[in-house]
Amino acid sequence: MSSQLTIPDSVPGRFGPYGGRYVPETLMVPLLELERAYESAKSDPVFQARFADLLKNFAGRPTPLQFAERLTKHLGGPRIYLKREDLLHTGAHKINNAIGQGLLAVMMKKPRVVAETGAGQHGVATATVAAHLGLQCTVYMGTEDMDRQALNVARMRMLGAEVVGVDSGSRTLKDAINEAMRDWVTNVRTTHYLLGSVLGAHPYPTMVRDFHSCIGREARAQILAAEKRLPTHLFACVGGGSNAIGLFHEFLKDESVKLVGIEAGGRGPGLGEHAARLAAHQGFTGARPGVLQGTYTYVLQTEDGQISTTHSISAGLDYPAIGPEHAWLADQRRAEYSAVSDEAALEAASLLARTEGIIPALESAHALAGLIERITSPKDFADSVIPTGVARVSPPFARRMPGYAVEGSRQGRRQVENTGTETGAPGSLSEPGSPDFSVGAPPLVSKGGSSLRSGESSDPFFSPNDLVILNLSGRGDKDMSTYSRALDLSK
Ligand SMILES: Cc1ncc(COP(=O)(O)O)c(C=O)c1O
Repeated sequence: MSSQLTIPDSVPGRFGPYGGRYVPETLMVPLLELERAYESAKSDPVFQARFADLLKNFAGRPTPLQFAERLTKHLGGPRIYLKREDLLHTGAHKINNAIGQGLLAVMMKKPRVVAETGAGQHGVATATVAAHLGLQCTVYMGTEDMDRQALNVARMRMLGAEVVGVDSGSRTLKDAINEAMRDWVTNVRTTHYLLGSVLGAHPYPTMVRDFHSCIGREARAQILAAEKRLPTHLFACVGGGSNAIGLFHEFLKDESVKLVGIEAGGRGPGLGEHAARLAAHQGFTGARPGVLQGTYTYVLQTEDGQISTTHSISAGLDYPAIGPEHAWLADQRRAEYSAVSDEAALEAASLLARTEGIIPALESAHALAGLIERITSPKDFADSVIPTGVARVSPPFARRMPGYAVEGSRQGRRQVENTGTETGAPGSLSEPGSPDFSVGAPPLVSKGGSSLRSGESSDPFFSPNDLVILNLSGRGDKDMSTYSRALDLSK
């Protein structure tokens, strides 16, 4: 079924009120140059043929759409298919965009690329493409992320990239993006900034989405071939949001297909404990519209507009803003977003490993945890698309969080001030009567086994014939030391 949804690209770079280009003047010239190059690449048969060739023969597309038979049986819910982006060269979807932008750098005659990375997957993809195309490459990475993703740091260096540790702020993705932008401003004539998600100033959110839209195009054809019908639900994790929008975009006009984005709920709902930008309805505090790193979107911020620190066990989801198109899809109620805890993601990863023989990236494990919670606690998600401005707490997460309040706060909406690259909207989110969400961290997964149950149903989120595609955005190799520690695998 086709909906009346207006695709929001009618004003380039705007998704309703979100998106835009909030940058210092020095960056306007390279952004306009990039926009022009991208616009001409879209209709350039030579560029498109080279892009298609590299996606196929270098990256390994199309990726399979695999029926997860044992997982489906175990959970007793909808039929679950996995879009296997984890099988791509370098182990995650990030390579799609890195190839596209690498080719644009060549087209713009820029011999050098800079990139930021959180989980290291975008850094590895960029270093890989740079080596393949003969470009110089510098990757900025928070030192906290360098510690937890050491394997990927070694991979980038082996590929000839310079990896620069960033020791400022929370020493994670946001800080790495700041440094990459600084490098870009300084070296703009020779350097392209190969941004790794649907974030930043126009044209990045649109361009990065388009480079990943092969995920949804393939998935659509594959599910029609396998099941002779469209899926009822799509699930994906949302850091900046590139793997999710890559899957969702092809289905936006199909009203019958529900889109579900899963964010990082981390250790709980208090500001600084999570990276959930669109889950105020579950009680996650601190998100409201503001400008971060060139785009207007939902940003986690303190009451006086400072960018908040975040926490997630997954480096790739540990970022205070969300891609502007997701903010718009949430406002339109075309997609729903919620968060799962670190603990739930670990349990989900463990279950996928044991039922399907696939160890997922921690990021993708969040998407699976969101799906599992909707099967095992269906009632809680029966009405989980929340009208704009209304907050509600979702009990499954609440049950895991001692002291979790049950009434949510109202989500404040404020006008943004166009003040530069990193300014949260001013003013306070909290209103009188907002609950106190200061809670202690829950224990990690108990060693005795998973709390996942199969097939309980009262007021089901899913109907009997439902069909899910879950984007398995990456593989778990990079996360083995975290899994080993958290799941106590050394014994
Ligand atoms: C495997 C994997 N999945 C998901 C993400 C999150 O990014 P995005 O939301 O842009 O897909 C990352 C980020 O590093 C990643 O490595």
